Amino acid sequence: MSFSGKVVLVTGSTTGIGEACARVFAESGAAVMVSGRDVARGEAVVASLRSAGFRAQFLAADLREAGACDALIGSTIGAFGGLHVLVNNAGILYSASAPQTTDQQWLETMAVNVNALFYLSRAAVRHMMRAGGGAIVNIASEWGLNGEANHVAYCASKGAVIQITRCMALDHARDNIRVNSVCPGEIHTRMVDQIAAKQGGDINANLRALAQGIPMRRLAQPVEVARCVHFLASDLASYVTGANLAVDGGNDATAGAYP
Ligand SMILES: NC(=O)c1ccc[n+]([C@@H]2O[C@H](COP(=O)([O-])OP(=O)(O)OC[C@H]3O[C@@H](n4cnc5c(N)ncnc54)[C@H](OP(=O)(O)O)[C@@H]3O)[C@@H](O)[C@H]2O)c1
Repeated sequence: MSFSGKVVLVTGSTTGIGEACARVFAESGAAVMVSGRDVARGEAVVASLRSAGFRAQFLAADLREAGACDALIGSTIGAFGGLHVLVNNAGILYSASAPQTTDQQWLETMAVNVNALFYLSRAAVRHMMRAGGGAIVNIASEWGLNGEANHVAYCASKGAVIQITRCMALDHARDNIRVNSVCPGEIHTRMVDQIAAKQGGDINANLRALAQGIPMRRLAQPVEVARCVHFLASDLASYVTGANLAVDGGNDATAGAYP
C-alpha cells in the first residue's frame, strides 16, 4: 500500500519498533518525521533513510515535557505541510511491584506512555479534523490486555493506551479519523534486553527461556510489528477503528502458560 504524498510522524523512532515503523512507512513513499531524545541515533536513522532515497527528517523531543508534544505536531506539519498518520510509539518500562515503584518511576511512566500519547493525539486530531481525516496507531502492549507480575506502572499505562484508543476511535469515527492500537508481545529490542538483563545471569539464556513461553517459540523482530502498524494506518484497514491488534506470537490466545 503506497503512502506517497502522506506525512507520518513516528515518536520514539530513534531505535527499536519505532525505527522499524519509520523505515516501513518511508519505503512505501511517506515523508517521515523521526523523533526521540537521542540526537545521534535519530540523525543516523534519517541519514540511512535518505541514503536509500526516502524523505525523512529528525526532530529531537523529550516527551516527558507536555509542551514538547504540541510543538512536535506543529513542527511536523510545518516541515512537511501536513500530518496524515501519527504513530504513538515512544514508551518506557520499569520492572517493579507497587512497593518497589518510586513516585518518580510512576510519574515518568505515565508522562511518556500516557500523557504524551494523549497530548500528541489531541493535537493531531485537531489538525486531522480540519484536514478531512487521518489515522492514529498507538503502540500499546500485550501487558495492557493482561497483567504481568512486577510491572504495575507499565501495565497500568498500557491499559490506559487501549482505552484512549477505543474512546478516540468512537469520538472520531465520523471525522474520517481511525484510531487503533497494536499490542506487541515479546519483540527483540533494547526494552526486552533490559528485562532479560535484570533477571541476572546470561542474557541470551534468559531470552531463550522467554521464547519458550511463547506459542510460536520465538521473539519477534521489530519489523513484524511495523508491518501491522503500516496495515492499520493504510486504506487496507479502512473499516478498522478502535481495534487492539495482538502481535504476540499467540500469547494472548493462551489462558496461562503455554505447554
Ligand atoms: N519490545 C517489546 O517487546 C514491546 C512489547 C510491547 C510493547 N512495546 C512498546 O513498543 C514501544 C517501543 O518499544 P521498543 O521495544 O522499541 O523500546 P526501545 O527500543 O526502548 O525504544 C523506545 C523509544 O522510545 C523513545 N523514548 C523513550 N522515552 C522518551 C521520551 N521521554 N521522549 C521521547 N522519546 C522517548 C526512545 O527514544 P530516545 O532514547 O531517543 O529518547 C526510543 O526511540 C513502546 O511503547 C513499548 O512500550 C514493546
